This record gives sequence, structure tokens and C-alpha cells, in this order.
Amino acid sequence: MLRIVVCVSGGGTNLQAIIDAVENGIITNAKIGAVISNNANAYALERAKKYGIAGDCISPKQFEDRESFNHAFLEKVNSYEPDLIVLAGFLVVIPGQMIQKYRNQIINIHPSLIPSFCGTGCYGLKVHEKALERGVKVTGATVHFVDEGTDTGPIILQQPVMVEPEDTPEILQRRVMEQAEWKILPQAINLIAHGKVKVVNGKTIIL
Ligand code: GRF
Repeated sequence: MLRIVVCVSGGGTNLQAIIDAVENGIITNAKIGAVISNNANAYALERAKKYGIAGDCISPKQFEDRESFNHAFLEKVNSYEPDLIVLAGFLVVIPGQMIQKYRNQIINIHPSLIPSFCGTGCYGLKVHEKALERGVKVTGATVHFVDEGTDTGPIILQQPVMVEPEDTPEILQRRVMEQAEWKILPQAINLIAHGKVKVVNGKTIIL
């Protein structure tokens, strides 16, 4: 059984999609061991509590410097002995040591079709603002493994979403969540839980 730790910063709708998928059997052979937030007020922690999932909190603000935080964060994650770490709207940069230790065991959901509208500083609503500015007709979401770069790791799943003429960033964000993020994140977890994702030469092969 795959033990999952989900890292969150905000509302946790992607966390909810994972919880629902475990409850209704879209994800099998996996269990959420804990939810870790860098924000004590994150609604995601409420969602975890409601389902009896351990909620934990750690923020860089509690530490003198980044190195101390990175060390403590890694220790905390290790304490839950995860097989898979899911970044579901987690706004903290993952320490290099953690990426090394959990190579191809950390996944992230990004609300665009990578390599469009991604990289440093491109997160949240900004992603959708940029997509609308550029005038793309199709956007979407991507689940990928986390490597040392920003949004550069091996791509696991992508789902396209149509852009509509009257879209605002907020409307597009919601559609990308509903039609893409909440589907492909649970799907990717289920594939990993069943040993169906292999990484070869920096690319994934879905078995
Ligand atoms: C999502 O758009 C996700 O793609 C991005 O952050 C947002 C998190 O939303 N990385 P939520 O907290 O899961 O509702």
C-alpha cells in the first residue's frame, strides 16, 4: 500500500479530489498518511481533519534561516515514511536534499500544459493571466515529477482544456481545476500506486 504525504498551502481542492478518489475507489492501493501545510490557516487542514487524516504544519517563518527550515521540513516528511509526496498547491520551494532523497517520488500539479506558462514566479492565477494574454485556445494541466528545476521534471499526465472567448483568469482557473487538475492528479497517483509509471532518460513511460 502506497503511503502518501500531501503538501498544501491553501484551499486544498486538489487534496479533496485525492481524498474523494480514495473514498470512491478511483485510487486503490494507496493511503494518505498525512497532510503538511506551511500555513496554519489553510482550509486544506480542515479537510484533512474531517477525514481523520493527520494534519501537520511547518513554515519557513518559524526558522532563522532557510537551511534550518529545510532540515526540519525534511525530518518532518521523513517521520511519515512516505512512498509518494504530492505537492497539491504547495507554495514552498522543495529543498534539494529532499529532491535527492525522494527522486521520482515527489509529484506536482501545475495548471498549464508544461512547458507553456510555467517556471519561476508562474503559479496560481498568474498562469491563467499569461495564457489569456498570449491568446492560446487550449490550455490545461500537467502532473510531473519534481526535479531540481521549476516545473522541469518528467511529465506524467497532461489534460487539455479549451479557452473560451469570455474567460477571465478566475473562470479559466476554475475550468482547468474541474476539467483537468482534479482528474489527472488522482489518476497519476493511482498509476504510481500500481507501479505503472517508469522514468527512463528523464521521460516517463506509462505501462
Ligand atoms: C492549483 O491551481 C494547483 O494547480 C496549483 O495551486 C492550486 C491549488 O489549489 N499548484 P488547491 O489548494 O488545491 O485548491
